[in-house]
Amino acid sequence: MDSSLVPLDKLTKEPYSSILGYPKATRNELSKRVTELKKIGINGISFTGTTTLNNIPVLGKGYVGVVVLSNQGKKTVALKIRRIDSSRSEMGNEAKLLRLANEVDVGPKLLDYSKNFIIMEYLEGKKIIDWIRDLKGKGSVAKLRATIRKVLEDCYNLDKIRLDHGELSHIHKHVIVGNKICIIDFESASVNRRTSNVTSATQSIFIGSGIANFVKKIIKEPNRKKLISSLRKYKNDQSRENFEDVLQVLGL
Ligand SMILES: Nc1ncnc2c1ncn2[C@@H]1O[C@H](COP(=O)(O)OP(=O)(O)OP(=O)(O)O)[C@@H](O)[C@H]1O
Ligand SMILES: [Mg+2]
Repeated sequence: MDSSLVPLDKLTKEPYSSILGYPKATRNELSKRVTELKKIGINGISFTGTTTLNNIPVLGKGYVGVVVLSNQGKKTVALKIRRIDSSRSEMGNEAKLLRLANEVDVGPKLLDYSKNFIIMEYLEGKKIIDWIRDLKGKGSVAKLRATIRKVLEDCYNLDKIRLDHGELSHIHKHVIVGNKICIIDFESASVNRRTSNVTSATQSIFIGSGIANFVKKIIKEPNRKKLISSLRKYKNDQSRENFEDVLQVLGL
């Protein structure tokens, strides 16, 4: 991984300006963003990662943001940059929801935020779908079970504080597995909805089409009827006891 740090003054120039203001930003917007970065203590960006944007490597890209490896002082951090064409007008709401998740030790640690940026803990690892796809050899079954169990425990903790992540039915791109196993991206989360973290994640992992197809090849499929009935019970009463019943049906 090439991780030479590009300092702030170079970020307003080509080719990096197309990342700081993706897909395209005015000079004025770019210079405002640099001022904002200075304020939150960012001293540069390291263009590295497995995703490329205009031939520039980054950690990841979504519809709201582009995530890059960055330095806040001496600390290595992940920086989520609001896309110019994002449907969200600022990052404060996402940051507050992430902070709430952090209260139950879920999500990358929020370090700071501003209108256009979120600074958070850098998670080394792969998206869960890629991790499962590459999983092989002795111990795969135990590793997969432990990983799913950790994800579902996090979901249970989010349910408990009534924070609904909102996108766990598409879990494949919302969990990073590496040194840590971590649910990411709280941009669509809400405290004003009925929480369905455990049920959405379970369905996505065991019943859906994406990840479930890989999971099936490694661990025995749970009894569908029993699973649906235990999920229904949990949905009506999100108690620890009902959650443990779900885990039991899943063989976790
Ligand atoms: N803390 C982090 N550490 C390392 N990589 C990260 C981190 N947060 C996000 N990423 C990477 O960046 C990608 C995009 O991040 P995120 O999902 O938060 O953006 P988004 O714009 O909200 O995406 P989407 O449109 O899918 O909702 C992730 O899929 C992941 O690969
Ligand atoms: Mg998102």
